[in-house]
Amino acid sequence: PAPQRLAGRHVVVTAGPTHEPIDPVRYIANRSSGKQGFAIAQALTDLGARVTLVAGPVALATPRGVTRVDVETARQMADAVDAALPADAAVMVAAVADWRVAQVADQKLKKGAGQPELELVANPDILASLAAHTHRPKLVVGFAAETERVVEHATAKRAAKQADWIVANDVSGDVMGGDANAVQLVTADGAERWEHAPKAVIARRLAERIADAL
Ligand code: C5P
Repeated sequence: PAPQRLAGRHVVVTAGPTHEPIDPVRYIANRSSGKQGFAIAQALTDLGARVTLVAGPVALATPRGVTRVDVETARQMADAVDAALPADAAVMVAAVADWRVAQVADQKLKKGAGQPELELVANPDILASLAAHTHRPKLVVGFAAETERVVEHATAKRAAKQADWIVANDVSGDVMGGDANAVQLVTADGAERWEHAPKAVIARRLAERIADAL
């Protein structure tokens, strides 16, 4: 077993998509398998951390030793993250839907009734709220899925959301739903390119870096 470098530490991880209902049978969501977030929860636990994994709707088994809180919407995810505090670190991997439908229909929208107009309202930014929280974890890590100018966008995101680190993910290839990932770690010191590797390897490497930082 790995040295328990994170023993006594609590880390909150978000993973998966959120589902924002339109009506009882339809929803808006981002594409996310949850695999990278679940692998990170596992890797942190392997180093002895107590991990609260706030998971959107995904078809993945709970990593051993992890406390999992299942949620559906962004607002539920935000509440679950709040309820999990205090924490020493937070890793926000979830692909949170940026918008939700203002008025969720209680009955299924019927096709015969013309094209529905969906009014969208912005969801809370869980990462940005956590970084500005009175109980801000010492280390706040965000993810950024980008298809171009990856480091530039991730650097801007790090500043805008006041995160300590952004793990920038180049999703222009076949990363989505796959088992490998190509990332760059963006910190106050700049960007560091990590070699293309299985999500479990990226997760272990990130967990070790978190242990270094705490
Ligand atoms: O703004 P964008 O969605 O690209 O930012 C991605 C990062 O912000 C991820 O870490 C994601 O988990 C987090 N995020 C969040 N709440 C949102 C939107 C994004 O926590 N509403």
